[in-house]
Amino acid sequence: MAETNVMEQLVSLCKRRGFIYPASEIYGGLNGFWDYGPLGVLLKNNIRDWWWRNMVITPPIGPDGHPVDIVGLDSSIIQNPKTWVASGHAGGFSDPMVDDRESKNRYRADHVWVREAEGIEKKRVYVAIKATSEAHAADAWQQFKDKGKLPQEFRTKLSFEVRKHLEGAVAYRDVPFTQLTVEEQAQVIGPDVQVPGTLTEPRQFNLMLKTQIGAVDPIEAYLRPETAQGIFLNFKNVIDTTRVKVPFGVAQIGKSFRNEVTPRNFIFRSREFEQMEMEWFCHPDEARMWYDFWKQQRMDWWKSLGVSDAKLRFRDHAQDELSHYSKMTVDIEYQYPFTAPDFGELEGIAHRGEFDLTQHQQHSGQKLDYFDQDLQLKLKEQGVSPEEIKAKSRYVPNVIEPASGLTRAVLVVLCEAYRRDPNRQGTEELLSIKPQFAPIKCGIFPLVNKEGMPEVAEKLYLDLRQKITCEYDPKQAIGRRYARMDEIGTPYCVTIDGQTKEDQTVTVRERDSMQQERVALDQVKAYLLEKLGM
Ligand code: GAP
Repeated sequence: MAETNVMEQLVSLCKRRGFIYPASEIYGGLNGFWDYGPLGVLLKNNIRDWWWRNMVITPPIGPDGHPVDIVGLDSSIIQNPKTWVASGHAGGFSDPMVDDRESKNRYRADHVWVREAEGIEKKRVYVAIKATSEAHAADAWQQFKDKGKLPQEFRTKLSFEVRKHLEGAVAYRDVPFTQLTVEEQAQVIGPDVQVPGTLTEPRQFNLMLKTQIGAVDPIEAYLRPETAQGIFLNFKNVIDTTRVKVPFGVAQIGKSFRNEVTPRNFIFRSREFEQMEMEWFCHPDEARMWYDFWKQQRMDWWKSLGVSDAKLRFRDHAQDELSHYSKMTVDIEYQYPFTAPDFGELEGIAHRGEFDLTQHQQHSGQKLDYFDQDLQLKLKEQGVSPEEIKAKSRYVPNVIEPASGLTRAVLVVLCEAYRRDPNRQGTEELLSIKPQFAPIKCGIFPLVNKEGMPEVAEKLYLDLRQKITCEYDPKQAIGRRYARMDEIGTPYCVTIDGQTKEDQTVTVRERDSMQQERVALDQVKAYLLEKLGM
């Protein structure tokens, strides 16, 4: 199955079964915004709770053999606008953007790749396609070579003459639009048009979404583009009101907003999304050690969601790619169906140094340094001079930040789980979600909606739902009920049938293998709890 089809089918399944709907659909939708339906919200909450558990409730064991200290926070989405000046977002949080004067479409300039093709007599043609990387662009042109046309998502039209020129080119190169000279940019044929020269020069576009506060003399404010800043603003509060000592972390999950130039690939890049971020405050000398520690912890966490090793990788940021606050960053990437064979970002682990605390210290005039009592004692024991102790015991902590997208995690779990199996009855589609994260863990069905079966099934449902998220469904042919449960990723179904009355047993069906076994009615709960690892 072509990878682009996989996405189409997954998006359609998510809509049809109540995972994810386009926002404001009855008004024609709103680009970059999505609503999570009854099953989507259960799936998202399961992933969210797992992250919170692994960060805040049972944080990992640190390099010294003791659990590390992480506390939680839920800060405001709108903060004092000075926050974003200090953080650098007001000045520097932007993407280069190009507009097409003819098609009126807008693109991220770094996602416009241009094939410069040289024909006979050195005649050159510049053809732009929408691609996120050189490999992505190369894949498009390979498809052009193999099938004689470019897939629609890369560009909409090619004139006959340009196609002939590309086919007969004696030399070519693929270049990002941003790297062409102004003269060359003026010759480019944009991705949705047929004539050259309609693309504007790239210009910077700030990604923060604005709002206004107050009715009289309203002030301009921003919806946060990352949850992280709320943590830095509360650094002193947390130190003063809890028992944490450096090193420690503050974790937060919540909505973030970015006016993305090109929201796309379903929920991958949206304008409203959820992040799971943890800011780890540590001594500057230990920052590199903690960077390596969190890098490994976070990769292990993604695997714990049931994501296969082969589809995950680390990618270090090149120096010129680093965010304005970062000393070093590594991304954890996933091979999404729409990036394959390439990978796309899932989480970034950044060494933010002392950038944020120092910036907020300067802009707010409040001291955000830390007095390290343990270090003071240690230095005293080592016989260090009082002046040196004083100088070394007070410092601005460094920050290591594992920052991931919750909504992106939902996408990864769905992409990883989506299968087609022609041997299934009722449906070919299946979501093989790791049972721990499945929205519904167990479907409970009376085989027929009579003969005392619904009463037994409902009683079992009322008992099981105390511990296990279940769904009771008495209607339709049993095959169709199983098919629906396969499509929504329910790992187990329990059916009460004619035999139940005779020997007090039920059928338990497992999603992936479709195997069925008889289990005693009074043992079903224990059986499921064991299978679900609860
Ligand atoms: N505080 C650092 C920070 O926000 P980031 O790499 O810009 O870093 C972290 O964002 C994560 O948030 C990303 O790895 C991604 O999972 C998620 N994310 C960022 N922008 C997103 C968007 N427009 N839509 C969905 N998820 C997004």
